[in-house]
Amino acid sequence: MESHYPFALPPLPYPYDALEPDIDAKTLCFHHDKHFAAYVDNLNKLLEPYPSYHSWSLEQLCQNWRDLPDEIRQGVRNNAGGVFNHDLYFRTLRTLPPSAPQPPLDGAVRRVFGGTDGLKTALKSAALSVFGSGWACLCTDKDGNLSIQKVANQDTVLPLTPLLCCDVWEHAYYLQYQNRRGDYFDAWWRLIDWPQVSEHYARILQSRPPIP
Ligand SMILES: [Fe+2]
Repeated sequence: MESHYPFALPPLPYPYDALEPDIDAKTLCFHHDKHFAAYVDNLNKLLEPYPSYHSWSLEQLCQNWRDLPDEIRQGVRNNAGGVFNHDLYFRTLRTLPPSAPQPPLDGAVRRVFGGTDGLKTALKSAALSVFGSGWACLCTDKDGNLSIQKVANQDTVLPLTPLLCCDVWEHAYYLQYQNRRGDYFDAWWRLIDWPQVSEHYARILQSRPPIP
């Protein structure tokens, strides 16, 4: 993502039909080209008359929306969060072959969840229990401690770092899965780009300041 206003829609990193049959082309096309694009456009429209916020990063906007003027506060909260969450969502999926967590993430997953199956169970339980629209995320803090977090609407898990976010808004799955959120979760799980997620986690561990 750009570091600040004006934000641009990142291109989908694979063809629309690349995730079939788990996520079909129509769902992916609407999700990326309509929903994700709308968050980007709305965020830019909200910020356009407020040059003093044009240097704010997306993360700053997501975390400090309470400091914004009344008339754009809630809009920026919703749309900056929508941009941040969707950017990660599309970047962490991939086409076949299926993959698995790699070191050092695999060790952390074993310690916290007992293994990849345990992580899947915990994350699925979180995804199914989001009431209404929101996200279920695998997160890490600066020290590499993993946790699962749920957020409503387009709130983010910041200042934690999300490694993976399952979008459980109905727009992410209803065209293909109707009300079967669990089936959609299983499909999403099969598509996770674990090498990329593992690399992200490794970079976070490497960026820790040395222990004095
Ligand atoms: Fe979405």
